[in-house]
Amino acid sequence: MCGIIAYSGKNGTNNSARELVEGLKKMEYRGYDSWGVAVATDQGIFLERKTGPISRLNKNPQKALPFGIGHTRWATHGGVTENNAHPHVSSDGRFVVVQNGIVENFLELKKVLQKKGYKFVTQTDTEVIVHLVHWELEKLNKEQELDKKSKISSPLSSTSSKSKLSIEKIFREAVRATFLQLSGRNTFVALDRKTESIVAIRQGSPLVIGKSDKEVFLASDTLPLLGKVPEIVYVDDDQLVEIKGLSLQMFSAKTGKEVKIKTQKLSQEVSKIDKDGFDHFMIKEIYEQQHTVTEAVSYSEEEFLPLIKELKKAEKIYTIGAGTAAFAAGQIARFLREAGYSAYELIAYDAESYIPIITKKDVVIAVSQSGETADTLEVVKVLKKKKVPLASIVNMMNSTLTRMSDYQFFSRSGPEICVASTKAYTAQVVWGYVLVQTMMGNYRKAQREVHELSTQLQEYFQQKKYQKVIKKLAQKLVKEEHVFVLGKSQHMYTSLEGALKIKEITYKHFEGFSAGELKHGVIALVEKGTYVFGIVGGSTKEKQETLNALAEVKARGAKVVGIASEPHEFFDVHLFAPDSNGLDPITKIIPFQLLSYYLALELKNDPDKPRNLAKSVTVK
Ligand code: G6P
Repeated sequence: MCGIIAYSGKNGTNNSARELVEGLKKMEYRGYDSWGVAVATDQGIFLERKTGPISRLNKNPQKALPFGIGHTRWATHGGVTENNAHPHVSSDGRFVVVQNGIVENFLELKKVLQKKGYKFVTQTDTEVIVHLVHWELEKLNKEQELDKKSKISSPLSSTSSKSKLSIEKIFREAVRATFLQLSGRNTFVALDRKTESIVAIRQGSPLVIGKSDKEVFLASDTLPLLGKVPEIVYVDDDQLVEIKGLSLQMFSAKTGKEVKIKTQKLSQEVSKIDKDGFDHFMIKEIYEQQHTVTEAVSYSEEEFLPLIKELKKAEKIYTIGAGTAAFAAGQIARFLREAGYSAYELIAYDAESYIPIITKKDVVIAVSQSGETADTLEVVKVLKKKKVPLASIVNMMNSTLTRMSDYQFFSRSGPEICVASTKAYTAQVVWGYVLVQTMMGNYRKAQREVHELSTQLQEYFQQKKYQKVIKKLAQKLVKEEHVFVLGKSQHMYTSLEGALKIKEITYKHFEGFSAGELKHGVIALVEKGTYVFGIVGGSTKEKQETLNALAEVKARGAKVVGIASEPHEFFDVHLFAPDSNGLDPITKIIPFQLLSYYLALELKNDPDKPRNLAKSVTVK
C-alpha cells in the first residue's frame, strides 16, 4: 500500500532519477495508481509525477545532485490524478514529501493550517504534512532569530540561552514536531533542498535502509535493495532517519535522542524479480508452486519442536490473517481441530470481540505473506501486550510481524509480486499441515507427502491438456456475471479462496460457499444456465455431500463445473485436479488460480495489477 523510495549517492554522481524509478518499479505491487520522483538539482528540485503504471520520466533532471525521493501510490485521500500524486512540494519549493499511511486527523489539521493561511492545492492528507513541516520550520527559525537577537542585545545572557541549532537540526526537528501532531499510521520522507538532507519517520508502514560505500537507500521493502547494497537497517516504529550524503543518523521520533544503528547483512538469496520468460508474474508464481510447497516446510523436526511444545500446553490456539492469509489461517485451524486441538480462526479485520477472551495461556499463529498487514498487526500488537505467545508464518524476511513473534517461520517462497496471492497461500497451508502432522508424531510422513505433492504439481503443469480445458472454460465465462463455488469441510476454504482469486483479477462476482449452505439460501440464486463450481475431494462422505449439492443445482438448470480427480455424470465441465489426501486443498486450488489468470487475459485485465487492490495493505 504505497511504495516509498529515497536515494542518496556519492558526490558527483547523477544517477538518482534512474535509481528511484528502478526502485519504484520493484515496488509497484504496493500501489500503482500514480507515481512520481523528486530529485535535487543545482537550481532547486526537479519533480515529475504521473498517473498509471511506472514507466519512464518524460524529462531527465538537469544538473542533478545525487539525492532524491520517489513514491508509487495506492490512493486513499483524493482521486487518482497527477496533482494528487506524490511527492508533494512545499509552498516555497524548498522541500518535498512522500507518505505511506493515513493522517487520521487530517481534516482537523487542515482547518488549523487554513486558518494560518495555508492554501491547499491537492485533495490528499499528505498535504497537511507538507504545510505542517513548513509551519514548524518557520516557528523554529523565528525562535532561533529571537535567540540570536537577545544574545546580541545582552551578551551576558549567552550562557542561559539555547544553543544555536544547525539548519539540519532545525529541519529534522520540524519534521519530528510534525510527526508528533499526526494520528494514524504514517511513514513519511521529506527531502530538503536547502540542507541537502533526507529525513524519514516510520510509524506503521515499513521502512528499510540499504547502505553501501557508494549510496544509501530508503525503501518500503528490501526488493529494490537486492543486488545494490550489502547491508540494511530496519527502521522501527517511531524512529527517525536522517541522511546527508552517505552519512546516516537515527533518532527517536518521540524524544529526538540519537539511537544506535543496528546494521545487518542483506541476504541476497532471494529469487530474481523477473518474469523468467513468463508473460506475467502471476503465471510464473502459479508454476513456482511445484517447488515452493517443499521450500515452505524445509524445517527440521527439531525446528518445529519449541512451537509444538507451546501449542501442546496451550488452552486454545488461534490462527489469524487477512484476505487470502485468513483462508490459509482457517485451513490451519482446521488441521489443528482435526488433530484434536481447540483451535479457532480469526479474521484479522473482525477479531476485536475475541481479544478479551484470548489469554496468555493461549497461542496465536499469525499468517501473512508480507508480515506488514495493518489489520493483522493491530490485533497481534494488543495480544502481545497481553503476553499471548505469538508464532508467525511470513513470506517476506524481517517483517514487522516476524520481529514481533516468539516463534518465527518463513514460507520461503521468494518474492510474490502479483497482487493476487498464489504461492504464498499454498506455502502457508502446507506449512500448517506439516506443523500439525509433526505434533501428531508424523513429521517424516508429512514431509514425504509434501514431496509427493510437489511431484503431482509438476506432472499437472506439464500436461497442457488440463490448461486447455481451463482456457476454454475461461472463454465461456467471459459473459457470466455471477458464479458460485461450493466446497465441503476441508474444501470450504478452498471455495472461498478460489472465488476470491477470480474476483480479484477478473472483477467477476464469484462467491464461495460451504456446500451445506446451499439449501439455506444460495440455491435461490441458481437459475437455468447459472455456473456452479463444485470441489469434489476429501473423504468419500465429503465427496458425496458435494455431489449431492451439485445434483440439486443441476436439477435447477445450473451448469456444473467439477474440480475433481475423476469425471462425473453431473459435470458439464470437468477440471482435473489430483487427489492428495490431507493436502487436497492445495491440488484443488490450482485450477482456480489458472482459471482466474486465463479469464483475466480474456477480459484484457492485467492479472498482476488488479484494479483498486494493493498487495501489502499497511493502512486500516
Ligand atoms: C491484501 C492482498 C491479499 C492478501 C492480504 C493479506 O488484501 O491483496 O492478496 O492476502 O492483503 O496480506 P498478507 O501480506 O498479510 O498476506
